[in-house]
Amino acid sequence: MALKVGRRFIVEPGGALHGEFPVPGDKSISHRSVMLGSIAEGETRVEGFLEGDDAMATLSAMRALGVEIEGPEDGRLRIQGVGLHGLQAADAPLDLGNSGTSMRLFSGLLAGQPFVSELVGDASLMRRPMRRVTDPLTRMGARIGTAPNGTAPLRIEPAPGLRGIDYAMPMASAQVKSALLLSGLYAEGETCVTEPAVTRDHTERMLAALGVPVAVEGPRVRVTGGASLTGGGIAVPGDISSAAFFLVGASIASQASVTLTNVGLNPTRTGVIEILRRMGASIDIDAGHAGTGEPVGRITVEPAPLRGIDIPPELVPLAIDEFPAIFVAAACARGETVLRGAEELRVKESDRIAVMAEGLARLGIEVHPQPDGIRIVGGRLRGGHVRAHGDHRIAMSFAMAALAADGPVTIDDCAEVDTSFPGFVELAHRAGLSIRAEETSA
Ligand code: S3P
Repeated sequence: MALKVGRRFIVEPGGALHGEFPVPGDKSISHRSVMLGSIAEGETRVEGFLEGDDAMATLSAMRALGVEIEGPEDGRLRIQGVGLHGLQAADAPLDLGNSGTSMRLFSGLLAGQPFVSELVGDASLMRRPMRRVTDPLTRMGARIGTAPNGTAPLRIEPAPGLRGIDYAMPMASAQVKSALLLSGLYAEGETCVTEPAVTRDHTERMLAALGVPVAVEGPRVRVTGGASLTGGGIAVPGDISSAAFFLVGASIASQASVTLTNVGLNPTRTGVIEILRRMGASIDIDAGHAGTGEPVGRITVEPAPLRGIDIPPELVPLAIDEFPAIFVAAACARGETVLRGAEELRVKESDRIAVMAEGLARLGIEVHPQPDGIRIVGGRLRGGHVRAHGDHRIAMSFAMAALAADGPVTIDDCAEVDTSFPGFVELAHRAGLSIRAEETSA
């Protein structure tokens, strides 16, 4: 049996962050570019596509469903769309790796197909809750089986016909909203989704850009079945979730000046900027041109003394993926930072409350985890040995923590960084972080 290779980061303390550079393409928008381009009529050309494992899992799955896709080459794809009804059965289960977005959005898309699909993933993905999508899809008439505890493998059987529903989501989830909008394209009548708090709206924006009428009235989004998509050009901006590590790193470093270019600034994603600014961060934004319905801009960040805050609950879904990095900022702030209403963090690629609490405690920070959040008492970060538990965002957050630590930070279990940020170590190193990666037997 081949030995599984793991990765460890070793980051020397201190260092500076400098430079002007782009971050890799947005993961959420990359997934959607492949999914929507594939079911559109005609060719879709994508640029800025994220060549990370998660978006590549979506791309491979679409190829397995019969879609011809050229690339990626330097972030460019050419997708020969097959139209709403042109997908074909895959001849093996679709392996979606570590990617929750792929699994949840594909559930919606495949629920309306006239063939059987099976969806599987890695150990982390096979533990994540799927009833949040399979329950409402079942109400639309879909036939989806899960494991007894509501996790993958998912088996999707052809349904005699999907019906639109009017669904109030119990949790703020763009993945659930998107899954229902995608199945809504295949349903009779109107599918209406109401969200309890604003979540990322990339699906709505991209559907509209490809010619599907999407009605958005406050928290309600509606699509009508049968509307066809027209292929076109999609420019994927840089991922603000990847930029977040540099925003925090440059804020806590003793010396830094970083400008991140072409970063997506969709207002449903900018919670991290708002939270860091409330903590006292020095972040300047030069909002630029909008690429295919998504605003972008340059972000410049410099070190600043941070203070702890109570994070406003309405910002939680707008920064949901950035909390590991925000917790590192909180560890370096004067006073306490309190987060509540964020129980979703417990069901991400890892339990991000437990895993960050464990790691920050090892680095000498006083933490008080709660079921739905955490209280972090800012202090002095020590060096130490932490574990990323296979969660990309935890690994990159702790790498940045070394900028403010008084000893080296060693982070185990970092191989999944490639899911969202291929080239992170090289880019961070070029910017001034004293980071190296080492192979381990995992
Ligand atoms: C995503 C939505 C969020 C986010 C995930 C990507 C998306 O998940 O955490 O990384 O692309 O729709 P939830 O919708 O489960 O909050």
